[in-house]
Amino acid sequence: MLAIIGAMEEEVKLFKDNMTALEVIKKAGMEFYKGKLYDKEIVLVRCGIGKVNAAICSQVLFDDFSVRKVIFTGVAGGLAQYVNVGDVVISTDCVQHDFDATAFGYKPGEVPRLDKVEFAAAQQLIDLAIRSAEGIEEFPAVYTGRILSGDIFVADKGKALELGEKFNGLCVEMEGAAVAQACYLNDVDFVVIRSMSDKADGSAHEDFATFVNKAAENALKLVGAMLRNI
Ligand code: ADE
Repeated sequence: MLAIIGAMEEEVKLFKDNMTALEVIKKAGMEFYKGKLYDKEIVLVRCGIGKVNAAICSQVLFDDFSVRKVIFTGVAGGLAQYVNVGDVVISTDCVQHDFDATAFGYKPGEVPRLDKVEFAAAQQLIDLAIRSAEGIEEFPAVYTGRILSGDIFVADKGKALELGEKFNGLCVEMEGAAVAQACYLNDVDFVVIRSMSDKADGSAHEDFATFVNKAAENALKLVGAMLRNI
C-alpha cells in the first residue's frame, strides 16, 4: 500500500477532494483516508505539524495499513540561494537539523546509537518523481537534493544560511526526516516532495500565508503525475 502524508490541511485538501471511495479511519488523533486517487489505492493522512506527529503517523501507516511506500508532500522554506518560492524539491535524503548530541562526539544531526545523520530516499521513487515532473507543462524549477527537518519554523536569513551550509540542505521543513527515520527503521521506501512557500527568512511567515495554497497545487500536480506513472 502507498501512503501520501501531508502535515497541514492546506497540504492534503486538494488530494482529498480528488479521491474516490473514501473510508475514514481515526487513530492517534489523525484521520486516515483510504480510497483511490487517479485509480491507485492509497491512504492519505494529515499528520499534523512537527517530527513527533510525523513519526507516530508513519508507524500507524506501517502497522495498521500495511504501507510499504510513502510520499510525503507539502511546503518548505528554500535555503539554497537559487531555490525560489514556487520551486519544487525532491529529496535525495533527509537530516534532522535540530538533533544535537555533539557533546558526546556525535556529528551535528546524527541520531545517537543509529549512527546515522542522513536517511536516504528510495531511488525508484526519486526517479519516478523526476520523470513525472519532466512531463508536466509549465511546471516550476525542480531540484533534487537534501531536505532538512526540525521542530522550528525557520524565519531568519542568518539561520537559513547557516543551516543550508552546515548540512548542505536545499530546503527546510518540519516532518520529512522523522518520516525518513521511521521508514528506515521499518524498511519502507519513501520520498519527500516539497514545494517552496517561502525562503525561511524574515518574511517567511507572510510569504508562507500567501503562497501555501499555490505551493500545495504544485505538489498535487507532481504527486498526481507520479501516481499515473507508477
Ligand atoms: N515549512 C514551510 N516553510 C518553512 C520554514 N521556513 N521553516 C520550517 N518549515 C517550513
